[in-house]
Amino acid sequence: MNILIIGGSGGIGQALIQHFHAVHPDATIYATYHSTVPDSTARPVTTSATKVHWYQVDITQEADIAALASALPPLSLLINAAGLLHHPEQGPEKSITAFDPQFFADNVNTNTLSTLLLAKHFMPHLKASPRSHFIAFSARIGSIEDNKVGGWISYRCAKAALNMALKTISIEWRFKLPHCCVLAFHPGTTDTALSAPFQKNVPAGKLFSPAYVAECLAQRIDDTGPEDSGQFFSYDGKVIPW
Ligand SMILES: NC(=O)c1ccc[n+]([C@@H]2O[C@H](COP(=O)([O-])OP(=O)(O)OC[C@H]3O[C@@H](n4cnc5c(N)ncnc54)[C@H](OP(=O)(O)O)[C@@H]3O)[C@@H](O)[C@H]2O)c1
Repeated sequence: MNILIIGGSGGIGQALIQHFHAVHPDATIYATYHSTVPDSTARPVTTSATKVHWYQVDITQEADIAALASALPPLSLLINAAGLLHHPEQGPEKSITAFDPQFFADNVNTNTLSTLLLAKHFMPHLKASPRSHFIAFSARIGSIEDNKVGGWISYRCAKAALNMALKTISIEWRFKLPHCCVLAFHPGTTDTALSAPFQKNVPAGKLFSPAYVAECLAQRIDDTGPEDSGQFFSYDGKVIPW
């Protein structure tokens, strides 16, 4: 079993690697990082002996994704757990008056473009496996129907566009990759660097550990197949409206 975790250096990505490494010890895990160089003392061991192989990839660059694709074998599971909500110097917008074109472009490139490029370049890898999942971390905030409070416009738009991309890919692959399940996944508010500045008002019991989220996603993978392709799942197994 070959697994690729994009954003393996992130809070949730690390937990996914640890989870799959523990549950599928015979799997070969490929993982990517961008600026956070994996530390073998703090993260799962990164040598080939433990079958976790790291690659440095900028997921906003097609050449990087194409090079990664040409290096990897068929995959039964590809998870895009990379994402962007804020820069150190720039947070999500509280009002349209704070809208910044470059911040918007950064959000779209990281949260949307990456999954489109992964689908384009890894379609043959997923096709070559008898059963496969292609999953991207979205966010409930990307649901148009669920939008009751506004704000965070760049991230919200980027995740909404990601959702449309996944739905569209799932329709194309229904015939071309009939054994592949394409899913959008909402992890809930999870205790990582991405959510750290915004955890103050999270209700008690609603800030999840990355390990819990990894377990939730693994359960969704076990419970779903091609017939579920094109769905947007929450961590608790409920379907979120697009
Ligand atoms: N945490 C939450 O509460 C929450 C809620 C809803 C949805 N999500 C979604 O869940 C996913 C995982 O989030 P997280 O909380 O684990 O975030 P995180 O800890 O901040 O990790 C973000 C990951 O994205 C990678 N990344 C960012 N820009 C990249 C680029 N240009 N090229 C390659 N990799 C890049 C980072 O790599 P480096 O560190 O190596 O640069 C890191 O691995 C994201 O899609 C996020 O939107 C999270």
